[in-house]
Amino acid sequence: MTKKRALITGISGQDGSYLSEYLLDLDYEVHGIIRRLSVAENQDSRLKETCSNIETHYGDMSDIPSLTRVVSEVKPDEIYNLAAMSHVRISFDIPHYTIQTNAMGVLNILEAYRNIVPKAKFYQASSSEMFGNSVDEDGVQRLTTPMTPVSPYGCAKVLGFNLVRHYRHAYGLHACNGILFNHESPRRGANFVTNKVVKTAVHIKAGLTDKLELGNMDSKRDWGHSKDYVRAMHMIVNHDVPDEFIVATGQTNSVRDLCEYVFSKLDLDYKEHVVQNSKFMRPEELNYLKGDPSKAREVLKWEPEYTFETLLDDMIEYWQTKV
Ligand code: GDD
Repeated sequence: MTKKRALITGISGQDGSYLSEYLLDLDYEVHGIIRRLSVAENQDSRLKETCSNIETHYGDMSDIPSLTRVVSEVKPDEIYNLAAMSHVRISFDIPHYTIQTNAMGVLNILEAYRNIVPKAKFYQASSSEMFGNSVDEDGVQRLTTPMTPVSPYGCAKVLGFNLVRHYRHAYGLHACNGILFNHESPRRGANFVTNKVVKTAVHIKAGLTDKLELGNMDSKRDWGHSKDYVRAMHMIVNHDVPDEFIVATGQTNSVRDLCEYVFSKLDLDYKEHVVQNSKFMRPEELNYLKGDPSKAREVLKWEPEYTFETLLDDMIEYWQTKV
């Protein structure tokens, strides 16, 4: 039997690396698009263990000929569009680039998909950042919650989300949206809050530093583990009907809760080490996220294996091996 072929944009990111491992275990042929970086080692540093089993192709979400070439060469059965400028605060500094990559990039890959492999299945990495500060009366965000984004990143993701939905309806494509709430892991980039807190707390414990500078400690997020969330991506794409799903834990914690848990796990008091620096504040903040994953649970039978605590334990263990 011929293997199923997957093409992952953003394969070198946290989710791309876990998804490629997951699909390789399911006996897929895995292809991914990577951007050229001047430090070549950084292009695929998260793919070290699986590199030899993955075929990578140079491309960029804003370079239409590169997307057309890769989709034509690979002829994928499934496309996972994970490529994005993924840092919300940085999107305020580079709004144009963010819109080009996270919104126009979706249009570019959708066009390549529609014209070259319209029978393939398509997954779009949509984000809880699209909700902005909309919350339903019962304190959750669900598929019907209005999207009122509060960052260039969120605005771009809303356009990408709508394009995918529109292409599904207009052209009968199997194009799906997963609205994923925050998801982390030991492979999380160093400037996202979970990794920053865990890594710095471990360094403080080891006597390597004494301070942790943060921005807003009162914002709340629904944090899950990337490994659980890439499983959901595969389930969403392989559901009979192309559709939209929220992937979240249904639990919310503040940045302060995060600090409290991580520091006390290391027998430290976060209040003695954390200082606020306005440099890490955002011009407009998304204050509160708590997703309702009931549709994914009922229809896809998706269940997360990690909790907020076990996710952070996994990250702490990882960083302890690095000091
Ligand atoms: N990054 C960062 N650094 N965030 C900080 C800091 C800091 O020093 N101090 C406080 N925070 C707060 C942010 O203001 C935000 O409220 C929260 O911590 C989480 O920030 P991030 O970890 O940067 O994640 P995010 O919620 O902005 O975005 C992530 O989740 C989205 C899904 O909702 C990213 O993964 C996005 O790509 C993703 O779409």
